Amino acid sequence: MVYKNPEVKKAAQQLKIKLEKLEDKRAILRAPELGALYGRIKTLPAGEARAEFGREVNALKAELEKLIKDSLPTTHYPLHPIDVTAPFDVNVGLEDRPKLFTADNGSRHPLTTELTKILDIFARMGFTSVQSRELDDDYHMFGSLNFPKDHPARDEYDTFVTDEGLIAPAHTSIMQNRVFKSMDMPIRAVIPGRVFRNEDLDARHEHTFYQLEGVYVDKGINAGHLIATLKAFLEEYYGQTLEVKTQPFYFPFTEPSFEFALSCPFCRKKGCHICSQTGWIELLGCGMIHPTVLREGGIDPAKYTGFAWGVGIDRLVMMKYAVEDIRHFHSGNLKFLRQFT
Ligand code: DAH
Repeated sequence: MVYKNPEVKKAAQQLKIKLEKLEDKRAILRAPELGALYGRIKTLPAGEARAEFGREVNALKAELEKLIKDSLPTTHYPLHPIDVTAPFDVNVGLEDRPKLFTADNGSRHPLTTELTKILDIFARMGFTSVQSRELDDDYHMFGSLNFPKDHPARDEYDTFVTDEGLIAPAHTSIMQNRVFKSMDMPIRAVIPGRVFRNEDLDARHEHTFYQLEGVYVDKGINAGHLIATLKAFLEEYYGQTLEVKTQPFYFPFTEPSFEFALSCPFCRKKGCHICSQTGWIELLGCGMIHPTVLREGGIDPAKYTGFAWGVGIDRLVMMKYAVEDIRHFHSGNLKFLRQFT
């Protein structure tokens, strides 16, 4: 474009040089040189000369706009994504959509039904429930729970890790530190959540299952409270009197640590396939919360003590209904699921 007016011509040259160097090309439209030209229009006496000047300034602006546009990468509009799993064309208007199934055609999953009952029992015992999470970091999975770096105990909790180093939690104990830091004394919380393990699958092992963590912290809490609390819960859940026993175990986050067993609620200790003919079922891990774990959660272990446990929800339910294979729960097998409705 050739400009007749020398002022416009000069400004055009300057602005184009400037434009070359600008990263944000649109900024050229705010350049003082251009503003000055527009300002000049008003100072000229009305008439053909002024009109001509105005036209040239507008033409310059249009040229700059075209240059900006040409410098931008061509936009490729992505194809509209199609959800091939959707039960109907999701792009049709609301009135054209098919009616969805009414809720009478479905039912709650047995694990959900049972979890509701379990949380209800704990609520009556004074426990708040807090939901766990499905992605976490090394600190909550290990560091906050007194697993030293490179400690072999970490091998027990082999799970899935993202490229960014985030962890699919292998236990609900990941929530202990958060609960300690966020709740006031006395701390009584149950924490249900989905957990993940790198497992060889069989009737008792799934890569994805549910756990219920429990923590209780206050002054003067001891292992007797732990055993009594779990016994009271289990008797309520299984609706019968049970015997319980503990044996020593190892977890980095408890000291002492126990494996907790109950008399088989199915055969009442006579021996059956559920308890492998022993009359007892090793149900869960528990213990007195390690002082280091309390301290890491902002609690003074000289003043407070607490207990904690972690139990597989699937296992609790399997024992209640004599479910012989944990894989049924995620199988989507309607014959299995309909037995619970
Ligand atoms: N997090 C343990 C596991 O998944 C279970 C457990 C044991 C939880 C002892 C606890 C505990 O809170 O005190 O193997």
